[in-house]
Amino acid sequence: MSSSLPRYSRITGTGSFLPPDRVSNAQLAERLAADGIETSDQWIVERTGIRFRHFAAPTVTCSDLGAEAARRALAAADCDPQSIDLIIVATSTPDMVFPSAACMVQDKLGMHGCAAFDLQAVCSGFIYALSVADAMIKTGAATKALVIGSEVFSRILDFKDRATCVLFGDGAGAVVLEASDTPGLLASELHADGRYVGILCVPGTVSGGRVLGDPLLKMDGPAVFKLAVSVLESVARSVLVKAERTDADIDWLIPHQANIRIMQSTAKRLKLAPHKLIATVDRHGNTSAASIPLALDDAVRAGQVKRGDTVMLEGVGGGFTWGATLLDF
Ligand code: ACO
Repeated sequence: MSSSLPRYSRITGTGSFLPPDRVSNAQLAERLAADGIETSDQWIVERTGIRFRHFAAPTVTCSDLGAEAARRALAAADCDPQSIDLIIVATSTPDMVFPSAACMVQDKLGMHGCAAFDLQAVCSGFIYALSVADAMIKTGAATKALVIGSEVFSRILDFKDRATCVLFGDGAGAVVLEASDTPGLLASELHADGRYVGILCVPGTVSGGRVLGDPLLKMDGPAVFKLAVSVLESVARSVLVKAERTDADIDWLIPHQANIRIMQSTAKRLKLAPHKLIATVDRHGNTSAASIPLALDDAVRAGQVKRGDTVMLEGVGGGFTWGATLLDF
């Protein structure tokens, strides 16, 4: 790295962590049946592609999962934690109202003093966080960042609503993003449209020592589906133009892991061969802001994504928010 301002950022290590309680569709169906809620492995697999999700134990928090994913990313990058100067945790399920989960991750990693904050963009959170860290590295405000997506969505699920509780799981993924002379992140784009707040939200809040409103997830599934497919195609195309690349340059597509049908439809619209789609939704469910770094780490450790490959990361989620990043790994 030259002494002049860094012009690029590059991912130098990935890590992830899933809590050990792995719940199959059949096991979940059995738990729901005890409350008179009917679902089946067949319905869940056909509509979503999900077969398993992981649930954190009641005492395990967002920062616990995030810290473990970060440890693994730091080890993969062969990076001294003390050299990190920025931590961003993308999450909608932090440990507390405040302070941020990022401060708790920092403490759990024994690193004190560097900038640390949470970023809330629901399932697009990791793309937003990566983009902010990239911008901070490019301006010289940071040189080595830990970018983490960590969620305990099981805490905000309504287990009486079969249309949503079967979709989500808990987990965390992380990357080390470092200043570099050679391009890693090529182009990013972020969007939001607050007119769609109501189609995917947790409408409750805390006030006067009480929870006001409903603190459980609400979703209009078909509306989310339609919007997700259209914005994922348009933002990917826009980022390709910015990076002066074409869809033929994409080696791997790693979209937010919400639903295999949304993901396959996006890959098809981008004219990508099916094998270029990285899918972990079958094993992880939808882990919101954690899903993209979890899938990236899974693909790196499985030997799919290799150094030099061109990867399109795409997120979409509540807000409505969406965004994409094209990178050379
Ligand atoms: N088991 C059995 N039946 C169910 C279940 C279930 N778990 N959930 C819903 N049903 C029933 C409904 O009650 C309905 O029955 P009815 O026809 O008798 O009224 C029927 O299945 C169809 O319901 P729809 O909601 O129309 O089902 P759809 O085919 O749209 O699938 C789904 C629902 C999977 C949620 C789909 O809309 C979807 O994937 N939407 C995208 C949303 C998404 O992935 N969200 C994740 C979070 S958002 C994000 O991360 C971007």
